[in-house]
Amino acid sequence: MTLPRLSMLRILSIICAAMMLATMNSATAQGDAKRGQYLIKAAGCMACHTADAKDAVPFAGGRALKTPFGTFYGPNITPHATAGIGRWTEADFMHALRQGQRPDGAHYFPAFPYPSFTKMTDADMRDLWAFLRMVPPSPRPSQAHELKFPFGWRPLLAIWKWLFFTPGAYASDAKLSAELNRGAYLVNALSHCGECHTPRNFLGGLQKDRLLAGTKAGNNIKSTPNITPGGLDWSDAEFKEFFATGMTPDFDSANETMAEVIRNTTSQLTAADLAAMIAYLKSVPAIKSEK
Ligand code: HEC
Ligand code: HEC
Repeated sequence: MTLPRLSMLRILSIICAAMMLATMNSATAQGDAKRGQYLIKAAGCMACHTADAKDAVPFAGGRALKTPFGTFYGPNITPHATAGIGRWTEADFMHALRQGQRPDGAHYFPAFPYPSFTKMTDADMRDLWAFLRMVPPSPRPSQAHELKFPFGWRPLLAIWKWLFFTPGAYASDAKLSAELNRGAYLVNALSHCGECHTPRNFLGGLQKDRLLAGTKAGNNIKSTPNITPGGLDWSDAEFKEFFATGMTPDFDSANETMAEVIRNTTSQLTAADLAAMIAYLKSVPAIKSEK
């Protein structure tokens, strides 16, 4: 009776090996939540999707975002089945970031910075999704936006997107070093710096010829500085200090908007990512500040 027992063992070990392979496969096919947690910081997802209150549940929504078109409220993106995005698939999530579209086909307002997020890689989107699946679900209902007529009408967004939105992942520029490509990806895709530092036209489209050249105050929004070499001539060390602590070379400290970006994003980056971001900022065309 030794023979059947041996083969039982063999069968068991084959089953075990097969199971291990299956889990390994699903681990590579699914996103990596740990990496996703880092990317969530680099992309600053929490700020807009968490209420401005001490006891606010992360990602449960409620942050008011004032724009010239009215006030937007970041929705609940926890895995709650009805209040959040618990019923979404990974494909729904990737479609939202890549195409700026809800699972039912409705268009998103670009207050959700998908014009930048569309440039993310599939792998980064999967990792973000894996992390968001693990945050505690919150039953907090998403708030309706309060927009001026006619901006609240979603079908208009089809025209906006046709004019100003180019979907698609960032394509590495063969003329740039790996570090500058990484910096470009961070600044323009993940960390969406241009969403605040690039001026917009009257319809809210980014003025691509003035990339990162700063914005003027007015109409419900504050100004942002020019962060091209035409506006800043900071050394690497000065940039590093600012992105870690918010302290500028003339011992000013960043105001609340940028302070939050520093707290949530730039101070959390790995040394290599921070260096890449700085190298890229120093390499973009110098644009003169508008008076
Ligand atoms: C600048 C603020 C801002 C940032 C940063 C931001 N979002 Fe949002 N997000 C919004 C707003 C506003 C909406 C609602 C858009 C609408 O109603 O059309 C939204 C919508 C969404 C939705 C759709 C929710 C739904 O119920 O349909 C998802 C998913 C989402 N964001 C995920 C993310 C992720 C992931 C990140 C980081 C990579 C992120 N957001 C960063 C403001 C932001
Ligand atoms: C939510 C809007 C917003 C985003 C996103 C944002 N910034 Fe800022 N940033 C500001 C504002 C507002 C200031 C001005 C702060 C002040 O005056 O204290 C600023 C200031 C700065 C400064 C200091 C410039 C100076 O002359 O003092 C630098 C550098 C900077 N930002 C870089 C970045 C980078 C890099 C990113 C992307 C990782 C980024 N910012 C994302 C709003 C933003």
